[in-house]
Amino acid sequence: MPAVLTPVRTKEDLLFEDSLRPRNFDEFVGQEKIKANLKVFIQAAKKRDEHLDHVLLYGPPGLGKTSLAYLIAKEMGVGIKPTAGPVIERTGDLSAILSNLQSKEILFIDEIHRLHPSVEEILYSAMEDFSLDIVIGQGPSARSHKLKLRKFTLIGATTRAGRITAPLRGRFGIIHRLDYYKDEDLKKVILRSASILKVKIDEPGAEQIALRSRGTPRVANRLLRRVRDFVDVKGKGIITAKEAQDALNMMEVDSLGLDDVDRKILMTIIENYGGGPVGINTIAAAIDEEKDTIESIYEPFLMRIGFLERTIRGRKLTARAYEHLGFAHPQPGHPPHQKKLFKD
Ligand SMILES: Nc1ncnc2c1ncn2[C@@H]1O[C@H](COP(=O)(O)OP(=O)(O)O)[C@@H](O)[C@H]1O
Ligand SMILES: [Mg+2]
Repeated sequence: MPAVLTPVRTKEDLLFEDSLRPRNFDEFVGQEKIKANLKVFIQAAKKRDEHLDHVLLYGPPGLGKTSLAYLIAKEMGVGIKPTAGPVIERTGDLSAILSNLQSKEILFIDEIHRLHPSVEEILYSAMEDFSLDIVIGQGPSARSHKLKLRKFTLIGATTRAGRITAPLRGRFGIIHRLDYYKDEDLKKVILRSASILKVKIDEPGAEQIALRSRGTPRVANRLLRRVRDFVDVKGKGIITAKEAQDALNMMEVDSLGLDDVDRKILMTIIENYGGGPVGINTIAAAIDEEKDTIESIYEPFLMRIGFLERTIRGRKLTARAYEHLGFAHPQPGHPPHQKKLFKD
């Protein structure tokens, strides 16, 4: 995937992400329901002077899961210890992290679906009773001992909610799915980032970038930086709609923000499988891409724009996808799919 459209964080994003991250709930654009809910839970916890219930955030990459975790810590006025599922190799590593947490502190586990099963098991009692079972000694004299933990909050983030085991999922009191952003929200993200980065841009310019950002703030911020580079080189002082369009066309970002891999997926289904239904494993093998990547990154977006449908027999293309790619739909007279882009 050309890095310019990937929702996954690139090295270059890292340089900017801290400065662009929203610093409070008001700066966090969109996702109004989630924000409203979290605000209530946070206020209630603070009023009772208690820890916040455990929070699970899921959804495609680049939609603001990590940003929200940090915002929650900030609003709660507590510290946050970030780690990630694949990083915790042994149960002892997690036990050490847990027993060092202060009261009400937040443990943020990114990619929580990738925790090792034995490590995950430690979390069950830690989340539920704030205790750790540790075994002291070896052989017949070994004894199991319960170690009390301070009451903390676990925030888990994942792109694959379906991969979270039932016992783990059941221990989260607050579960939220982040959805793709509406174009007007992405526009707000772009205008805010432009002012932080001191980039001159007008509203139509921001709209053009928003349209091609795959509903994803991380992509919107990246496209803004790329377009700025083009404008800097051309010597014009401000990003207008025309400038944004020219720059994005030059980068081969299509009018819906589709990239090579999206097109490969769609074309394979049309050319080799008659528009589907076809299984995800078959698609992955045909285009030589990881099934997991297709399921967590490409498929949700193609479904969101109404190009792909999931049926029990596999994935199927819609008339709308045929239209965009310039193909006739196999069933003449079939009404074109009318789903609106990024409708709420
Ligand atoms: N709701 C939002 N409002 C403003 N900026 C956002 C929002 N969500 C994400 N971003 C921007 O996108 C970048 C990626 O967000 P992040 O929280 O790292 O996503 P995730 O953890 O879901 O992959 C952040 O650095 C931030 O600048
Ligand atoms: Mg993240």
